[in-house]
Amino acid sequence: MKKTLVAYFSQTGNTRAVAEAIFEALHGEKDIRPIDETLSLEDYGLVFFGFPVQSHSVPYKAEVFLRRVPAGQALALFCTHGSLHGHHLSQEALEYALVLAGKAKVLGSFDCRGKLSMKALDFLSKSPEHQEWTDMAASAATHPDDKDLHEAREFALKIWTTHFHGGY
Ligand SMILES: Cc1cc2nc3c(=O)[nH]c(=O)nc-3n(C[C@H](O)[C@H](O)[C@H](O)COP(=O)(O)O)c2cc1C
Repeated sequence: MKKTLVAYFSQTGNTRAVAEAIFEALHGEKDIRPIDETLSLEDYGLVFFGFPVQSHSVPYKAEVFLRRVPAGQALALFCTHGSLHGHHLSQEALEYALVLAGKAKVLGSFDCRGKLSMKALDFLSKSPEHQEWTDMAASAATHPDDKDLHEAREFALKIWTTHFHGGY
């Protein structure tokens, strides 16, 4: 059985916390790496990849990573965002990530909210481009919380089990 990789891009630690929860839930041989230390996906039978939503989209570094995922690679995506769960803004970023990884075999996706510092929120909310999501973001202050991390573990285990053992 090939190894599983959890790769992530995280600026302030929220996506890293979700990546660590996902990593904990996995069985078998596994690695966890920030995006900058992810050289090749060759050894991995399954890759989880996570990023924070930025400016309604996928951050540039994450975009570069997703474009390089080889054809047929089994991939599961996760992201964190300040906007409300299920809001179209964060869903659109996730949908764009799916397009970027178009050649991969995408097995599923997970998202949850992630806090911003009051300083960042105050700064970003002054820009019209960020108005819509910053209005929602103050209530993300406790996320990712225990429930988010629990759900991330459940997501990871389900994907891993289905991929390597056909659901058993
Ligand atoms: C510059 C910047 C832009 C952001 N843009 C968005 C956005 O468009 N939509 C959104 O829901 N959250 C946005 N966020 C909030 C982040 O997605 C959220 O805080 C995330 O959990 C950060 O993850 P990290 O700690 O792994 O970097 C933005 C945050 C920053 C700093």
